[in-house]
Order: sequence, then C-alpha cells, then structure tokens
Amino acid sequence: MNDTKKAAPANPRVSKSSVLDRALVLEMVRVTEAAAIAASKLIGRGDEKAADAAAVEAMRHAFDELEIDGTVVIGEGERDEAPMLYIGEKVGGAIGRGPKIDIALDPLEGTTITAKAGPNSLAVLAAAEEGCLLNAPDTYMDKIAVGPGYPEGVIDLAKSPSDNVRSVAAAKGVLPAQIVVCVLDRPRHAAMIAELRELGCGIYLIPDGDVAGVIAVTDEDTTIDMYMGQGGAPEGVLAAAALRCVGGQFNGRLVFRNDDEKARARKWGITDLDRIYKLDDLAKGDCIFAATGVTSGSLLEGVKRYRGGRMTTESVVMRASSGTVRWIKGEHRLD
Ligand code: FBP
Repeated sequence: MNDTKKAAPANPRVSKSSVLDRALVLEMVRVTEAAAIAASKLIGRGDEKAADAAAVEAMRHAFDELEIDGTVVIGEGERDEAPMLYIGEKVGGAIGRGPKIDIALDPLEGTTITAKAGPNSLAVLAAAEEGCLLNAPDTYMDKIAVGPGYPEGVIDLAKSPSDNVRSVAAAKGVLPAQIVVCVLDRPRHAAMIAELRELGCGIYLIPDGDVAGVIAVTDEDTTIDMYMGQGGAPEGVLAAAALRCVGGQFNGRLVFRNDDEKARARKWGITDLDRIYKLDDLAKGDCIFAATGVTSGSLLEGVKRYRGGRMTTESVVMRASSGTVRWIKGEHRLD
C-alpha cells in the first residue's frame, strides 16, 4: 500500500480525544476496499441488485475483522427490508467489549452506475462516536454544498439557487456566470437548472452518485464550486461526514413524498420535518470517512483487474479531528 498525505487543516471544533483509534482510520479502508472489489466483478453486467448484494456481503464480513462494537445507523434499510447491514445491526469483532462506534454506510453508492459501467461509483462509510451521526431516514434530501475557504453562511438552503450562486460568486470574487454547479441529472431539477442557466453558470450534470458530487466541491481540480439539488438523505449524511473532515459547508433538508416517509422520520426521533441541517447536525464530534472507487470518477480510480488475478484499488480516508486525508493505492491478489 502506498500511503500519501494531502495537507488539510486540523478541525479546531473537534476534540483530539475520541474513541476512534488512529489505527481504525486505516482499518476502515479495508472495509470499503472489500466492498469495492466484490462489486467490481459486476461492473457493466447490467445487474444492479447483484452488484449491491456482492458489496453488502463483502462489507459485512470485513467488519468482523475490526475491533469495534459497531452499530449501523445508516445502512441498507430497516431490519425487515435488508438481510445484512440493516439499521441497528451490530457489526465488528468486539461487540460488547470494543469501542462503541456508529457507522453510516453505503456498500455500493451508485448501483446503476456500476451496472452500466458509468463514472463515480463508490464503496463508502462514515464512522463516528456513538450518537454523532444523524439517523437519516431513507427519504430524499435537498442539498447545497460548497468547499472550504468561504465565510460561514455563504450558502443557505432557505434562499433561491440564484441567490446562493450570487453569494458564492461574490465571496469568490467572480461573476455568477463563472460559477460551476454540480447537479444530479433528473427531471425534478429542470426548474433549478433553468434558473442556473439564466445566470450563465456552468452546470456539471452527473447521472448518479451525489456523494462524489458533493465531495467534488472540495477539490479545486474538479473546477466545481457548488453542489445543488435533491438526492438521498443517507448519502447526504455520508457526504457531510467527508466535508467535516476536509472543510466546506453543507445544508440539507429532508423531503417527504408521503405520510409513510414522515412516519419513518419520526421513528428516528426527527420532530421538525422542515429543519435545515448543517454539517454539525449531520455529523458531529470526531469522525472518519472512507471510500474506495468501484468505477473511476472525479474522486477516485475504480478497481482495475489484471491478468493473473492482480487488482488495484484507490481509496481515500479522512479524519475530522486531525484533518488528515490519505489517498491509498492498494494492490491485491486473488488467490
Ligand atoms: P444508489 O446507489 O442507491 O443507486 O444511489 C445512487 C444515487 O444517485 C445517489 O447518489 C443519490 O443520492 C440518489 O441515487 C438519487 O436518487 P434518485 O436516483 O432516485 O434520483
């Protein structure tokens, strides 16, 4: 494994002492690697369910190797819907004796992308001290995000897309037309896209995978300034955990399509259904974010398989308390 560091400022809001052991940071990568490798067998095979199931099973088993008393707080669904990695499932090899850690996970973020061999599918997880990750229901979430270096409050989900672009443009010292916004390519975003086009913004449309879409705002190389639009709420928590580690701002508001979704939210203790969540509301305290690329994209290279059973992976792992970001290239052999 090559272990390279990219400088990021330590997060002053996060205490250095937490149950998240330093060793655990790198161990989390083994878990996302296992899921990515398993899913990679199904890249381009047109079978979303099989790709997801392979990733879930591999991730589930990889957790057994970790000395943690883990609880899945965001996972594959509720217990009656998902055989493995369901919400509330205990994971880890030290249940009852290891550090108590909450885990938000998506073993395959971008099932359709994987089935179609498109860009940016990931195996991803976030880990935090007990009670520090929002138990987001599996609903949609309106999201807006911007990278590090902007004054606090530069984005505000309560304002219109145009107002947010103008605010970010002013803070960046450019015209609104010079701002690039990443948006999921969905019919529901037509009005927002039209509004952004009026301003002359660049719009970077992605087919799927808004965890990578949000994280793209933190990397100047992507040229993406902002993320806007509606995607999954669980993915919102995962992306927020990453931004807590590397900096940036995020606002999210749950979107309910029916009473059943509202009831689910209440079940997880959410009383204010219109609340706008900021980073610290979604992921607080110390946290770790880890992801391994399944297919290549703006964030990571995907799994590559070579003759003779050799495979390579690329992963990123970050920690909020230290602000450390490690990019890890793995070489694996299938024997
Ligand atoms: P899956 O991995 O569940 O396929 O999610 C992919 C994704 O694009 C997410 O990144 C995004 O948050 C969500 O789907 C958007 O949902 P929808 O496809 O219903 O618009």
